Amino acid sequence: MNIHQCSVCGHLEFGNAPEQCPVCKSPKEKYQRSDRIFEESHEKSKEAAVKHIPAITVNKQCGLIPGQGCIDVIVRIGATLHPMEAAHFIQFIDCYIDGKYASRIMPTPGVFAAGCFHLKTAGTKVTIVENCNIHGVWKAEANL
Ligand SMILES: [Fe+2]
Repeated sequence: MNIHQCSVCGHLEFGNAPEQCPVCKSPKEKYQRSDRIFEESHEKSKEAAVKHIPAITVNKQCGLIPGQGCIDVIVRIGATLHPMEAAHFIQFIDCYIDGKYASRIMPTPGVFAAGCFHLKTAGTKVTIVENCNIHGVWKAEANL
């Protein structure tokens, strides 16, 4: 599958570049094709996977908004928790439902490399993409 990355905010689109970046609203021209972007992160630092591959927990029994497809997708960056220091941190965590962008979390240094997406969805698959300022982009998927 084609992957395109926004050169302004780092957002990835699976498939063709969008007319406008759904995160930072930059025009299509700011997107660059980057089909091997995940493989490149693995190749650059194989030992880094344990601190970068997102761990996903799906909670279908959230209950905050009953009867309306209210699902929590809880994400932790790394089986070994990724550091969140000023010089080395997770810049964003993006959530996709069935390959379509849904939401972004931007943790700052000092908080945990983790977050929760509260979704309204009838989708079947969630994809989480995270970006480390040093080790690049990593992803994981889970069924909903
Ligand atoms: Fe890192």
